[in-house]
Amino acid sequence: MTVKSIDKQYVLNTYNRFDLHLVEGKGSVVKDENGKEYIDLTTGIGVTAFGIADEKWVEAVTAQLTTLQHTSNLYYTTPCAMLAKAICEKTEMSKVFFSNSGAEANECAIKVARKYASDKGYDRYNILTLNNSFHGRTLATLSATGQQHYHELFNPLPAGFVHADANDIDCVISTAKENNVCAIMIECVQGEGGVIRLDTDFVKAIYSYAVENDILFIVDEVQTGNGRTGELYAYMNYSVKPDIFTTAKGLGGGLPIGACVVGEKAQNVLGFGDHGSTYGGNPVACAGALSVFERLTDELLAEVKYKSQYVFDALSKCDGVESVSGMGLMIGIKTKKPVGDVIKECMRNGVLTLSAKDKLRLLPALNIDFEILKKAVDVIKSACEI
Ligand SMILES: Cc1ncc(COP(=O)(O)O)c(C=O)c1O
Repeated sequence: MTVKSIDKQYVLNTYNRFDLHLVEGKGSVVKDENGKEYIDLTTGIGVTAFGIADEKWVEAVTAQLTTLQHTSNLYYTTPCAMLAKAICEKTEMSKVFFSNSGAEANECAIKVARKYASDKGYDRYNILTLNNSFHGRTLATLSATGQQHYHELFNPLPAGFVHADANDIDCVISTAKENNVCAIMIECVQGEGGVIRLDTDFVKAIYSYAVENDILFIVDEVQTGNGRTGELYAYMNYSVKPDIFTTAKGLGGGLPIGACVVGEKAQNVLGFGDHGSTYGGNPVACAGALSVFERLTDELLAEVKYKSQYVFDALSKCDGVESVSGMGLMIGIKTKKPVGDVIKECMRNGVLTLSAKDKLRLLPALNIDFEILKKAVDVIKSACEI
């Protein structure tokens, strides 16, 4: 039996995989079982921020792996403490809860928001999120996700989430008032929703409304965070400051980690026993994440912006492209051809890409070699041609 047939038989049927079995890689190039090479513009959906088998990351992970791979959260470990310190210092936030995924980071944010309101004596528990958002696959984060089709098969979903239209501040404020919300949670760029960047005025208006009404402002940076948009976190493009931001994906560089990062206002909301996770703050995951986080320098962020501009310019001019959206190296391309056909054509020609709704989505490594990126963009251009 081949790996593909074994997988089909034994792995639960939730992923519609491409006919591709990857076996190894280096940087932004991966190889399949037959030795065919592909330029990887997917990074495991925004995870391998510095590419495959990045030397510094491997070194940090291996050193920790051979020293202390796990202990419980009953004890202190160096990587967990140092990563939390680094994140808080760089973002001027106060405290971090580590989880294992983006959805779990959002679960923590939801718990903090609910308890913040009850500690304050407010009769509030609803959380407002935006239509077309995506916040995860656990039951609560599915409920938070503002896309009806994710909800349909899993009712009843946890109550306490309401949705309003993106880029419509009147709709957000009226929905918030009607439902007495304790928090508003947004993605600055709706990733799964089609790489749609929220308007600056809209994000600023939500922030002001939240501050004025003591409603927690939560930014989901699971996909947009850790340098992806050309700033350390996407909210930094908007000159706003969340009370909580959540992140995951690129932070880990390839090992599972999530973080719920809490600012001053809500830093003491959760106390002993209010939340926890067996693996949360795992030393190996944290050591890898620290090696990623420390390299998200201003120089790297400038490089992300430069490469982003190149891709935007090159693809906007292309005949087969209707529009290009997104921010930094989180890029959505509305193609004239069906996106599935473009992805397959790119793959045939050695470039791996993603979709987001009806768009082609690119999430390359932040340090992708410029010549490799150019080569991949040429392949995309010809795949888009009609
Ligand atoms: C914005 C956003 N939030 C949450 C999640 C869920 O993250 P995870 O799959 O790590 O649970 C995702 C995943 O794509 C995401 O893009």
